[in-house]
Amino acid sequence: MPTKPRQKVLLLEADVAAGGDLLAAAAGLGLDAYVATHKELYAHYRPELTDLITGTAFTDFADPARALDDLTGFCRDTGIDGIVPCWEFLTPLAARLAAALDLPGHRPGPAPAGRNKRLMAEAFAAHGVPAPQTVTAPDPDALARRIAATGLTYPLVVKPAENAASIGVSVVRSAAELPAAARRAQSQRHKLPHGIALDTTLLAQEHVDGPEFSVETVVADGTVHHLAVTEKFTTAGTRRAELGHTVPAALPPQARAAVCAAATGAVTALGLRHGLAHTEVKVAPTGRPKVIEVGARPPGDLIMRLVHEALGIDMARAHLQAVLGERPDVTPRRNAAAAIRFLTAPEAGTLRWVGRLPHGDHVVATQLTKMPGDAVGGPDDNLSRIGHLIVRAGTPAEANAAADAALAAVPVELATRW
Ligand SMILES: Nc1ncnc2c1ncn2[C@@H]1O[C@H](COP(=O)(O)OP(=O)(O)O)[C@@H](O)[C@H]1O
Ligand SMILES: [Mg+2]
Repeated sequence: MPTKPRQKVLLLEADVAAGGDLLAAAAGLGLDAYVATHKELYAHYRPELTDLITGTAFTDFADPARALDDLTGFCRDTGIDGIVPCWEFLTPLAARLAAALDLPGHRPGPAPAGRNKRLMAEAFAAHGVPAPQTVTAPDPDALARRIAATGLTYPLVVKPAENAASIGVSVVRSAAELPAAARRAQSQRHKLPHGIALDTTLLAQEHVDGPEFSVETVVADGTVHHLAVTEKFTTAGTRRAELGHTVPAALPPQARAAVCAAATGAVTALGLRHGLAHTEVKVAPTGRPKVIEVGARPPGDLIMRLVHEALGIDMARAHLQAVLGERPDVTPRRNAAAAIRFLTAPEAGTLRWVGRLPHGDHVVATQLTKMPGDAVGGPDDNLSRIGHLIVRAGTPAEANAAADAALAAVPVELATRW
């Protein structure tokens, strides 16, 4: 009997949070995994990644037209069967590439709204997706005028149209704080490591008070399956870094249904058809969910690991199956809970000491990314973390209690300044 040729997928940048999981899932599915990246970046790929990579397509993501051209040619020559969006800043390119090759992918027309929050706000408004009221402007003065003209009242959230990990996002309590927040929002103009140009249009949004969740979703041929709702824990001050996540969120069924319905509206508004989506939602005191953003990509922050620990669902595998146009395997195999907590320093400084991270009991994984003597940032954005721990337990309440207790037992000390 002739053997079926192995299917081939192309990952758009694998040296990202989800890259290792996606490559491992590709190997598990018997797929050949190719990676599109920059030549100079591939030289620094870790062996855990390169060991799982069949071949590479080098291009320049800072030049989207050239990248589309290069990769269309590569995929035709190589016989690629599926385009795998791995990273938010390349999701529009992934959709255009899939369309050019007539492969399963998101609708290319609305795809730029998957990474650009100005376009996303417009798509949400056009489709009646519940979202914070938003105004946009090219500079701080114009933003102040737009805020006054629309009657938006403080507190507001100011953020750049394009970035991630809470970079440049601030809660602004008065007009006097607006210029500094706008400066922060416009301070990054290119996204490393590829040098992709960012739209630095400013957004000011109604501040939605209330708990925050994310909905982890796989879309398969346009059908939306929500796999899990995650509870998110963030800092409460001017800057909103994410401090931890718990899967599943302890939500009453009606509230869960409302959060999921908002996520369905959001992913539909963005034209998502094949692959994972991560939708962030806050539930206002009225009980009404409001969509903060959608990532048309696998979730970061090890949320895929949490979903696996808690529910036994392999999201990376589901992503690959969806981008190949297959029906993803999404049956839960467990009914437990898992939580991650990030270790942060109380403020920016030099790390004097960080205690040993605990293992055992509920703790299933830990990682420390900074050592004594290292410079560390304060808890301003998600880049300032110094490590994390993951726990698994029977229920979300147990997972939260175990994670918070484990985190509290790790001392983090900064060197005194002189
Ligand atoms: N309109 C808003 N109301 C309340 N909090 C918000 C709002 N927008 C953003 N935030 C907070 O800031 C965090 C980061 O903002 P987000 O828009 O998700 O940007 P990023 O792409 O950097 O993740 C959110 O997770 C949320 O905690
Ligand atoms: Mg976000």
